[in-house]
Amino acid sequence: MLSESDVLSTLMRRTPGWSLQQDLYCDAGVFRADMERIWYREWLFAIPACEIPKAGNYVVHEVGAYSVVIVRGADGEVRAFHNTCRHRGSVLCRANKGSNPRLVCPYHQWTYEIDGRLLWARDMGPDFDASRHGLKPVHCRDVSGLVYICLGYAIDALDSWWGDLPVQEITEELCGLYVQKRGVAVSTVRRELGCLRAAINHALPAGVARPTIWMPDRPPARDVWLTRQQAAALIRAARRRPETRHLARFILIGLYTGSRKTVILGLKWKPHSAGGHVDLATGMLYRKSTGARITKKRAPAIRIPPKLLAHLRRWHKTRRSDWIVEFRGCGVACVKNAWHTIKTAAGLPKVTRHTLRHTAITWAMQAGMDMWQATGFFGVSMETLLNEYAHHHPDFQSDAVAAANRAGRRAA
Ligand code: FES
Repeated sequence: MLSESDVLSTLMRRTPGWSLQQDLYCDAGVFRADMERIWYREWLFAIPACEIPKAGNYVVHEVGAYSVVIVRGADGEVRAFHNTCRHRGSVLCRANKGSNPRLVCPYHQWTYEIDGRLLWARDMGPDFDASRHGLKPVHCRDVSGLVYICLGYAIDALDSWWGDLPVQEITEELCGLYVQKRGVAVSTVRRELGCLRAAINHALPAGVARPTIWMPDRPPARDVWLTRQQAAALIRAARRRPETRHLARFILIGLYTGSRKTVILGLKWKPHSAGGHVDLATGMLYRKSTGARITKKRAPAIRIPPKLLAHLRRWHKTRRSDWIVEFRGCGVACVKNAWHTIKTAAGLPKVTRHTLRHTAITWAMQAGMDMWQATGFFGVSMETLLNEYAHHHPDFQSDAVAAANRAGRRAA
């Protein structure tokens, strides 16, 4: 499978006026690059609006791995949502088209208004806030009767602020004002402005001056990690309820390997094309599918720590599906709600799923793991390791401390 840079160099080598090299028509890497660079980012024509003339009429539109439901609301507005239930990620509308006064999930009957709001969810307890669990919207515009959708990130926020402003009028002051008015987390606004910069670079021809897109400084990393007691409390909270039991595996894999959420949820017992797998015979964990693209988020293959290997062998004997983290015999797409439940029950409201990775690296540093080995095992750069974790290492500044100690003794 061609990597993105191979695709680019193959394109650059094409002879104008001739058909393209064979790979560009049939290679899986070209297809993936095409989806990620164009189909998942650009505005796409979806349907003529007359296909959904009445309130509650809907059409399901597939874009690569995404399923989008386009529905006309009671106010006549056409909206689009990811066709995925916010409870456990079941497909919401299974038919290609239809008409419903409400969108009801076939799995546990969570019920959504046709404008995306969550109306009803059973057994979620008194603390559950339905207003935070509406359907995830997809950008959607009805342009003179033609409905366009866009799966790209940050369009709404950018569009409502920058609108039709000519590119040459973008200034650092305006960027600063945007950051102020958005009032969201620095990391969010940095991602949005990054999208704006990428869009401008993409749109302007080479040689045309680009405006400077000012961004606030990256926020300092939070030094949040779990103690052994807190980790045990989290696992106990997960095991206590049938609907969160699958998270015990999620936590254990996270703590032993420091893998990211998507890697853990994508793990299967056998190799597959959409994620990693474990090989119990050799004791290896492959975080990526074979031939997967290399991204900034490094995900190297690792040897499985013996204690985790013992857990995995035990789970393998009682498996009900191909997935390692499974819920009622199926893979798990999202653990957001279950995570909220267990962290509240364990009295750890600030702990996020990413905390497991911080914890694994912190524990490894505290145990004195060699820094080079740690970069390879956790897929983290030496720079990040030094900046964010090295102070937990027993050797951290040890020479400096010893020298300061000697100097102090002489002075005394
Ligand atoms: S109600 Fe939709 S997955 Fe449970």
